[in-house]
Amino acid sequence: MNILVTGGAGFIGSHLARRALALGHAVTVVDNLSTGYRAQVPDAADFVYADLGNPTHYLRMRGLAPDVIFHLAAQSSGWISMDAPIRDLDDNLRATVLLTEWALSVGSPRLVFASTESVYGEGEGRAPFDEDMLPRPRSFYGCSKLACEHYLRVAHRELGLAPTSLRLFSVYGPRQDLANMRQGILSIYLSYVLRGEPVTVKGPAERVRDLVIVDDVVEAFLAAAAAPATIGRELNVCTGEAVTVGDMIRRLGRAFGRDDHPIAVEAGTPGDVFLSIGDHARMTAATGWRPTVLLDDGIRRIADAFAAARDVRRSA
Ligand SMILES: NC(=O)c1ccc[n+]([C@@H]2O[C@H](COP(=O)([O-])OP(=O)(O)OC[C@H]3O[C@@H](n4cnc5c(N)ncnc54)[C@H](O)[C@@H]3O)[C@@H](O)[C@H]2O)c1
Repeated sequence: MNILVTGGAGFIGSHLARRALALGHAVTVVDNLSTGYRAQVPDAADFVYADLGNPTHYLRMRGLAPDVIFHLAAQSSGWISMDAPIRDLDDNLRATVLLTEWALSVGSPRLVFASTESVYGEGEGRAPFDEDMLPRPRSFYGCSKLACEHYLRVAHRELGLAPTSLRLFSVYGPRQDLANMRQGILSIYLSYVLRGEPVTVKGPAERVRDLVIVDDVVEAFLAAAAAPATIGRELNVCTGEAVTVGDMIRRLGRAFGRDDHPIAVEAGTPGDVFLSIGDHARMTAATGWRPTVLLDDGIRRIADAFAAARDVRRSA
């Protein structure tokens, strides 16, 4: 199949592009490199430098005829969206609406969209969150992603597009950008642990999150694309495992040989929520997908990846 990965120079998109290539698909990555890195795009993938929020840049995608679009390009920080709502609007909603028009113009390929737990806000004050809950985002990021879901659903019902929106919970794993201190809860804490500095926690350490490893997220995208039962729907991609921020940091410290890593708690960031845990029963029913890695195992994989990289550097 021909697969287009938007945001394929970023964390999740680059993992997805690699996996699709390994499965024998032809992959094209479209990215504006705003938070992604050209070096993350696998060599075997074609690369188009384009800003999906800019209509003239779609000329650069002329001739592409994807069977599937995995749409992950986005401004993906709730915190940044509160400082820069117009950038968020351009990179998320405007880009998704323009991409939707483009997809319709090239024969309506399957489109799987990276939505987010942030659409739920605080849920309805109960957890786990399921797809029947009324979404009430607390950040502009959650608002723009929710609007994208609505546009895609309308494009499905009225114009025949075949989209699926996956509501990803907190994703983590190897190659997450440790230099970006405003994006990715576990990677931010890991940066502090690796530098041997106290972890600055913005908001209560009792906040609860549901962390899903990037390998499972990649399989969720592939499973959704292959399952007609997901078309026109929004589905949670999560583990259901509840972990507090404090516990997450303790486990990270332990895995990297620093028991009782110090924590400095500061005021929270605007738009953040206290509790976010998902229920993946519908995703599992529609696709057979289920998470395979819980947090302890996932952290061990990250620690192993760091140790392997260190060994390579030593032997070089
Ligand atoms: N990482 C998470 O925990 C998480 C959770 C929920 C949802 N998501 C969603 O998953 C997707 C991927 O997230 P990620 O963590 O890999 O983030 P990322 O920042 O690493 O990747 C996003 C990619 O999109 C590109 N991009 C941004 N705006 C663009 C535009 N206008 N045109 C073209 N390319 C553009 C960036 O350069 C980057 O390579 C995003 O849509 C994000 O909102 C991520």
